[in-house]
Amino acid sequence: MGLGQNALPEGPGRELVLQKCQTCHDIGFVSRERQPRDRWDAIITEMQSYGLRLTNEERAAILNYLATYLAPGAAAPAPASPAASAPANGAALYSNCVGCHQANGAGVPGVFPPLAGHIPDILAAKGGREWLVQVLLYGLQGSISVKGANYNGMMPAYPQLSNAEIAALLNHIATQWGNAFPSGQSPFTPEEIQAQRNKNLTAQQVLAARQQLGLR
Ligand code: HEC
Ligand code: HEC
Repeated sequence: MGLGQNALPEGPGRELVLQKCQTCHDIGFVSRERQPRDRWDAIITEMQSYGLRLTNEERAAILNYLATYLAPGAAAPAPASPAASAPANGAALYSNCVGCHQANGAGVPGVFPPLAGHIPDILAAKGGREWLVQVLLYGLQGSISVKGANYNGMMPAYPQLSNAEIAALLNHIATQWGNAFPSGQSPFTPEEIQAQRNKNLTAQQVLAARQQLGLR
């Protein structure tokens, strides 16, 4: 499940980083980086373009923390905890998604599409199962319509998750919030995830593949 919070060294600004930088992705995205100040500055600007909101004071405190404790040459992150080898837990892995798709899976209309009431439609489409795996491995970018609402955003890719983790995550979102597998379909297996790796798709190609599914 990526690196835990423990991988972030103690220091002023750490709490703010934990609070602001893991609403959209695992804190491991941050803790494994070692960058000079100007790169961190550019990364924060990029995150702001994705929707991160910061006051000037918060931005300065976060930049100071990152440029000090996650500078090139700073100590390597603590090794992943033994829990990392425990069976993948889909509910816990959903913490990667909750900042955008929300705890109740309803998303944010016009910004982040719903997963509740929608994953079964994808699963039922011909090729939909394989396509869901591709969204997780390669992301999705461009204009889509879900239940009459339009979205034109970017879904990040999660190639760093293991096959078992992606299978657990998909099994979670396929069975939460009233979602269920269409009759005749069984839970995802790690082998199904592996079969979609090494296709090296772009998020735009995943968008093109979506158009073949005939989703409404
Ligand atoms: C509003 C959502 C959001 C927030 C909040 C957010 N990020 Fe990100 N971050 C993203 C997305 C989306 C990506 C994936 C970009 C990609 O796949 O290329 C990402 C990727 C990254 C990466 C990987 C390298 C890169 O440039 O793509 C780093 C490092 C990172 N974020 C740091 C941070 C830090 C530090 C914070 C807090 C100050 C933060 N993020 C908060 C959305 C966010
Ligand atoms: C930074 C925000 C963000 C995060 C984090 C995120 N998503 Fe998404 N997701 C999106 C956006 C935006 C779209 C629509 C992309 C578009 O408009 O092309 C999307 C699309 C999707 C879709 C396809 C829906 C469709 O009908 O095409 C699925 C499935 C999905 N996300 C699942 C997940 C899962 C599971 C996670 C966690 C591992 C996750 N997302 C994390 C923003 C996010």
